[in-house]
Amino acid sequence: MFPDTAGPIGLFDSGYGGLTILEKIRALLPQYDYIYLGDNARTPYGTRSFDVVYEFTKQSTEKLFSLGCPLVILACNTASAKALKSIQQKDLPNWNPNRRVLGVIRPTTEKVGEITKTRHVGVLGTVGTIQSESYPIEIQKLFPDIIVTGQACPLWVPLVENEEFASDGADYFVKKYIDQLLNNDPLIDTIILGCTHYPLLLQKIQKYLPPHIQVIAQGNIVADSLKEYLQRHSFLENLLTKGGSCRFYTTESVEKFKHSASIFLHQEVDVTHTQLHL
Ligand code: DGL
Repeated sequence: MFPDTAGPIGLFDSGYGGLTILEKIRALLPQYDYIYLGDNARTPYGTRSFDVVYEFTKQSTEKLFSLGCPLVILACNTASAKALKSIQQKDLPNWNPNRRVLGVIRPTTEKVGEITKTRHVGVLGTVGTIQSESYPIEIQKLFPDIIVTGQACPLWVPLVENEEFASDGADYFVKKYIDQLLNNDPLIDTIILGCTHYPLLLQKIQKYLPPHIQVIAQGNIVADSLKEYLQRHSFLENLLTKGGSCRFYTTESVEKFKHSASIFLHQEVDVTHTQLHL
């Protein structure tokens, strides 16, 4: 259905969160062209069912493929947890097996074994990511000795999407979920920010954590992992255009995206409106 054409790397998130991944990938791999797609009109995905997240993520991936991306990164933990495997196994073989769709959970879990000393790890994520158990399952495969405790933080994505992440009101919900996590396992010494929106709350998260706890944000990890992946997959790497550009698409209002993206990326961006469904 999609031919082997050369094109940009596509990144997808339900909203603005994936911009935290895009920023780090572009810093490490500035030579490639990029397209970012935010499904802002339908965010948040975190409280939606498997079927809905799969359907929405499939539409976004198809969109990025139709825009010519040979590689799509689901820069969203919820989509990676609930849709990545189905897309890779059911849809990609029909679309074009030479194209690739990658997620953000696997590269993050690969790092965690090097960091934790107590072998007790916490994961903060959306309801969908935590309920999917994707983090404990993936970590168990690589590091069977690590005990993983998940904590859903359903109000954090709305705080970020509504630009309330630095407000005094945000403190209450940041502290609440962190306290719940540490009450459930006081031996945790490493916490994964398992949602691409959460780096925006990092300052507040660190304010309520004891200093010995290490916080892992995903941007640099995903960027390093992508670099290595492209070194190992030269066919795919050769299909990536190298003009250093970045285009943005949103399913919501262009003005709204422009404003919020400038907060996330500290620069002005050009945005195009798009629709993913009829
Ligand atoms: N950035 C998405 C994630 O990493 C947020 C999901 C949502 O839309 O709730 O999980």
